[in-house]
Amino acid sequence: MNNNFNKFPENFLWGGALAANQCEGGYKEGGKGLTTVDLCPAGENRRKVMEGKIDILKPVDGEYYPSHESIDFYHRFREDIALFAEMGFKCLRISIAWSRIFPNGDEETPNEEGLKFYDEMFDEMIKHGIEPVVTICHFDTPIGIIEKFGGWKNRKFVDFYLNYCKAIFTRYKNKVKYWMTFNEINMILHLPFMGAGVRFDEGDNELQIKYQSAHHELIASALATKMAHEIIPGSMVGCMLAAGVTYAYSCNPEDVQKAMDKERENLFFIDVQSRGEYPGYAKRFLRENGIEIVFGEKDEEILKNNTVDFIGFSYYSSRCASVNPEVVNGKTAGNVFKTVRNPYLKVSEWGWQIDPLGLRITANQLYDRYQKPLFIVENGLGAVDTPEEDGTINDDYRIEYLSEHVKAMKEAIADGVDLIGYTPWGCIDLVSASTGEMKKRYGFIYVDKDNEGNGTLNRSKKKSFYWYKKVIETNGEEV
Ligand code: BG6
Repeated sequence: MNNNFNKFPENFLWGGALAANQCEGGYKEGGKGLTTVDLCPAGENRRKVMEGKIDILKPVDGEYYPSHESIDFYHRFREDIALFAEMGFKCLRISIAWSRIFPNGDEETPNEEGLKFYDEMFDEMIKHGIEPVVTICHFDTPIGIIEKFGGWKNRKFVDFYLNYCKAIFTRYKNKVKYWMTFNEINMILHLPFMGAGVRFDEGDNELQIKYQSAHHELIASALATKMAHEIIPGSMVGCMLAAGVTYAYSCNPEDVQKAMDKERENLFFIDVQSRGEYPGYAKRFLRENGIEIVFGEKDEEILKNNTVDFIGFSYYSSRCASVNPEVVNGKTAGNVFKTVRNPYLKVSEWGWQIDPLGLRITANQLYDRYQKPLFIVENGLGAVDTPEEDGTINDDYRIEYLSEHVKAMKEAIADGVDLIGYTPWGCIDLVSASTGEMKKRYGFIYVDKDNEGNGTLNRSKKKSFYWYKKVIETNGEEV
């Protein structure tokens, strides 16, 4: 418990966040199998593939797949972790690529080369005093099992996932304490192929398939939480929500109801993971949409007895909802979530609304609802960086964005929110999940690579690198 309400707690986990599929590359090295993201091309087909609307299970000639090389973290993680250590990181959020451990997803024994790779990576972090925070599945389900069993709509996936969990919990039990079961679990509703390896045929009842797949992930998450607690005493297992408060566009009660419905679309997942049961509003939604979830005999018990220890979430922007068609037509972009344009907010170059106060509100809402420690595991500004002639990168816009969000976190802490850590997204530039671009950069460290895959991959420190170092050094006092 933090008794000093105007300060970040002493042991606050300052760090940064990455995901294997967006930084590692080496997509066929070390025995790794293909994953969903390896089949998401850059360019106009990306979205359709991520949504499960184009049925491909192997790379197509003529397409460019940014995850295949990414920023080559696979070979350069030592150099990159040293840079994170220079900034003073207390933790680093990475994900394990499932298909490095089980290349097809259904092998009986894990791939030793893959296990060894993460052993080396964790050792490197620990050597620098950096605590690993691990996402078990960040948008990369092995293609082998999708081909054979059709993705998370098949209950067999629970077993494949748990097999994978057993291998990594056993192997890394002395190295990793913080785990998250699924990255942005609510993304399954928006990008079902990327999120859950689910594809659709014409005439499919998509909602039925999405919610049944989600149920399987929720069961897998609960059982993984149980397993982690058994194998790694003292481990902390979290859920991970793509969060962001949804404001009502006006005080028209219908707008307010709409905003609540929209919030619940996302909070449903965390309500199950954190409170251990399907909430009444979700049951009503399923009923009224003719969705029937097949529950296993013990599912209710599994969910009830194995709730998460902390609430991990990403926050990029707030959202806004209205019932007025004229307002709705003025939609803006957002982190995959289409949302009504809020006239009070500025937007990023990619149309994402910028709302630091929304972070304080989101954190308060989540804490009020769950009363569990919160961990902000993603936040940041995707922007174009242009190196000066002398090679320096003056990303004041990023510093401003992050600084305002850190201040909002401090306010949330003063409000009494138990916030345990902050890992800004893409602490080194990496491939954008939604667009596949490199030019949408989040990092404190610049990577010389462009959207077409050209560049030396050299790393250089941006102005924000020194800013964040100071923030960590002063435990959030100088922002
Ligand atoms: C989150 C994901 O949705 O947002 C990350 O967990 C992603 O994987 C991040 O990269 C930022 O989104 P984008 O589309 O700008 O990369």
